[in-house]
Amino acid sequence: MEKTVYYIEGDGIGPEVWAAARPVLDAAVSKSYGDAKKFKWVELLAGEKAFAQTGSYLPEETLTTLAAAELAIKGPLGTPVGGGIRSLNVALRQILDLYACIRPIKYFKGIESPVKHPENVDMIIYRENTEDVYAGIEYASGTPEAKKLIEFLRGELGANVSLSAGVGIKPITPAGSKRLVRKAIQHAVDKGEKSVTLVHKGNIMKYTEGAFRAWGYELARDEFADQVMTEEEAAAGGAKPIVIKDRIADSMFQQVLIKPQLYSVIATTNLNGDYLSDALAAQVGGLGLAPGVNMSEKLAFYEATHGTAPRMAGQDSANPGSLILSGAMMLEHIGWTEAANRIHAAMEKTITAKRVPKDLAAQINGATTVGCKQFGEILESYL
Ligand code: NAI
Repeated sequence: MEKTVYYIEGDGIGPEVWAAARPVLDAAVSKSYGDAKKFKWVELLAGEKAFAQTGSYLPEETLTTLAAAELAIKGPLGTPVGGGIRSLNVALRQILDLYACIRPIKYFKGIESPVKHPENVDMIIYRENTEDVYAGIEYASGTPEAKKLIEFLRGELGANVSLSAGVGIKPITPAGSKRLVRKAIQHAVDKGEKSVTLVHKGNIMKYTEGAFRAWGYELARDEFADQVMTEEEAAAGGAKPIVIKDRIADSMFQQVLIKPQLYSVIATTNLNGDYLSDALAAQVGGLGLAPGVNMSEKLAFYEATHGTAPRMAGQDSANPGSLILSGAMMLEHIGWTEAANRIHAAMEKTITAKRVPKDLAAQINGATTVGCKQFGEILESYL
């Protein structure tokens, strides 16, 4: 069986981390399945390489191909200066409606972490990716647009907003919230996870964050009635496999430090999810290793979660771990689980052997620094 995967190398360190990652993914598949399964890699252009070849940072052909695709993977893309695009990543998410940003957070033994028991963290964050203050509806202080909006708010709605304010709009819809929560609960069902936690700031932002919570519970009740129960139902002796809980965002930041073992799947709004993903990745010492995917109903678009690290580019010193583990997520997603497990086991062995790129070497006592390419080769040797 051959699976077509479209790839974008990315900018900065992108081409080197991709060159190190791809052989690891291919080797994991061939070691697991011989010739019975393999990837067909097809390159798409975006970023600097696209601009050099086509004059566009995001060529139409790339977008039309991705719109019809099921699997893709990308290195980091820089933000073009003066290219007329705010962010290529944001543009891709919006155009392709990649509404769920999914980040698993897991500890790898041997990596220094700022907490005592990082091994208790084993979570996956489902972050809504298209709404919230990220919708890009904001107006700078003093502009005619801001003034017009504030005058409307004051005059028509009696809101007490200073005329000098910069203003942003936070749209959260029932449909946007529900499709995200549906994906998170479906993950819990598929993987046998015991809880899904809705993280929100609904005590303050009642009609956006609070509504997200309400719509989340509603969806759970309407679509997963035979699999889920609330914490109250669980306390009253309920026997469904998945508990739907909710936590206020500030309290959740305490919870993940104090009792991470109580949480597995998290579903949350865009801004909360942004903060929480990075905080949790840092908690397990794994910012350089954090994998991720952005999903629409059709496309699963895996990505290195770090940026282009322009100062490291071309030096063969970047860590390709994030892209490799994103590739492992893709293997799991398509059911090539044995290959995914091989990659996780090889990553653990490589870290235990303490032969790691510069960024990880700084976090591991007595480690030997290896280059980006070599790290990929060592991983491959442990597959
Ligand atoms: P960055 O992630 O590129 O760098 C932050 C720090 O982490 C730097 O010290 C860098 O050297 C280090 N770092 C990042 N990736 C690393 C790796 N694989 N191995 C070792 N060290 C690594 O973030 P920054 O500097 O804020 O952004 C640089 C550019 O990347 C910007 O143009 C930004 O827009 C873009 N970016 C793209 C992302 C994406 O494509 N998903 C995500 C974040 C930023």
